[in-house]
Amino acid sequence: MTAPAALPTAPPTVAPTAMPPAPLLRLAALSRSFGGLQVLHDVNLDIPRGGIFGLIGPNGAGKTTVFNLVTGLLQPSGGRIEFEGRTLVGLAPHDITRLGVARTFQNIRLFREMSLLDNVMAGLHAQLGYRLHDLVFGTPRFRRAEREARERARELLALVRLDHQLGDRADNLSYGNQRKLELARALASEPKLLLLDEPVAGMNSGEKDELMAEVRQIAERGYTIFVIEHDMRFVMGLCQDIAVLNFGRIIARGTPQAIQGDEQVIEAYLGREDGDGDDAAAEAAVAEGRAS
Ligand SMILES: Nc1ncnc2c1ncn2[C@@H]1O[C@H](COP(=O)(O)OP(=O)(O)OP(=O)(O)O)[C@@H](O)[C@H]1O
Ligand SMILES: [Mg+2]
Repeated sequence: MTAPAALPTAPPTVAPTAMPPAPLLRLAALSRSFGGLQVLHDVNLDIPRGGIFGLIGPNGAGKTTVFNLVTGLLQPSGGRIEFEGRTLVGLAPHDITRLGVARTFQNIRLFREMSLLDNVMAGLHAQLGYRLHDLVFGTPRFRRAEREARERARELLALVRLDHQLGDRADNLSYGNQRKLELARALASEPKLLLLDEPVAGMNSGEKDELMAEVRQIAERGYTIFVIEHDMRFVMGLCQDIAVLNFGRIIARGTPQAIQGDEQVIEAYLGREDGDGDDAAAEAAVAEGRAS
């Protein structure tokens, strides 16, 4: 009889301290073209778990396209998108939501004729623990799930200070409050990563300050936030880590101070002549290095 073969030895383990923490979201050589126009060129970007990460850049730089690729509304022409180490490429948007990625839109998308509460309840839909059978027969499980969803929707609306008008129609809200409602609805899916596309566009300065405090509060609850914004006061005041996209390429990444002092960034903002009001203000803010 031969002796049993020795068990294979386990591969050597790497001391945990030697490994940088895995990013929550990784974009690797991400590219996208529309017809003959390449709008993203080999974008590499690691977004760590926790905190508020900012993406800035002139109009048309490709920022929203990044969000559309991450959320599965568009497919990349090349490259990888990994969320918690798992590829998102090829997944349908609702599967990506289920994995823990939620977003708001640059052009607000709400159920305009529905109440605030129902808008957020719609966002909770994926989380509800009942099946069609429960819904059709109004089982206790369904009623309990409904009650819990309603309670959760109220909490989320309280987070953005809209809980005093739960029954109002969404289209009766001011523009700023519609953006907040969208934020509450995005939170309903319990995302690990929340993508905000120009959350303060169209808000007055009081509304911006309020939203800034609310976004900070949301981050403190453990959500990772990835925000696209032209408003420099908002970005520089909120984000610890910022990347700059210009003509589909990342040209800088760093702290607000580093970004404000970066020659290429200043050039990217000043080198254009077609800025609208928001952008012109952004250009001035970056150039002057105003942090708040
Ligand atoms: N679905 C599409 N089909 C064709 N071209 C598109 C599409 N989506 C975006 N583009 C083009 O890709 C480029 C980048 O657009 P994108 O919306 O990503 O820019 P952005 O950085 O978000 O700009 P802004 O700051 O103005 O929102 C633009 O030239 C735009 O016209
Ligand atoms: Mg955009």
